[in-house]
Amino acid sequence: EMEKKLKELKEHISTYPDFPTPGIVFRDMFSLLRNPAAFKDLRDVMVEVTKRNIPDAQAVVGLESRGFLFGSVLAIELGIPFIPIRKPGKLPGELNSVTYQLEYGTDKFEIQKESVQPGLKVLLVDDLLATGGSLKAGCQLIEESGGEVAGCLVIMELLELRGRDKISQPVFSLLEF
Ligand code: PRP
Ligand code: ADE
Repeated sequence: EMEKKLKELKEHISTYPDFPTPGIVFRDMFSLLRNPAAFKDLRDVMVEVTKRNIPDAQAVVGLESRGFLFGSVLAIELGIPFIPIRKPGKLPGELNSVTYQLEYGTDKFEIQKESVQPGLKVLLVDDLLATGGSLKAGCQLIEESGGEVAGCLVIMELLELRGRDKISQPVFSLLEF
């Protein structure tokens, strides 16, 4: 049942060779979100995979920006808080931050200190796992803020980049490319 749904969902992902730069095969999840039945099925699969594998999650942390779309849906369904990790300069109040490597150069993530209570068991959500730099930085930021990463959930995983090898916490992906 789940396998059948996942196979159908994968067909809703559009592929754009050489976007945004030559050599990158871009997997566009917005084509799936345009189909309400597919989006609903994706929600159901996210909930089932989380309940089965990370049942003790106390909050969902989403990575800006595409991670917000899936993380917020999951937080509502599980009845637990949604917490954003954002690019620099967007969040008010006292913050923790982490700098991480991109293919070229560096970027920074921020989280509000007050959003993570000591020992909070977090489910980290993003749309896609490529090199793993973003997810790894997200894990670091949660731990530096006093939280515990119970697991990571991504919708899509680009297997050949081996991003999951960078992550010490359990990583669950729904659609593999
Ligand atoms: C994309 C994607 C993931 C990340 C994956 O985010 O949404 O967060 O890259 O790549 P990695 O595994 O190599 O780190 P992007 O920075 O393009 O931001 P967006 O979600 O705001 O589009
Ligand atoms: N983010 C990083 N790599 C990506 C890819 N190949 N497709 C879509 N989003 C991405």
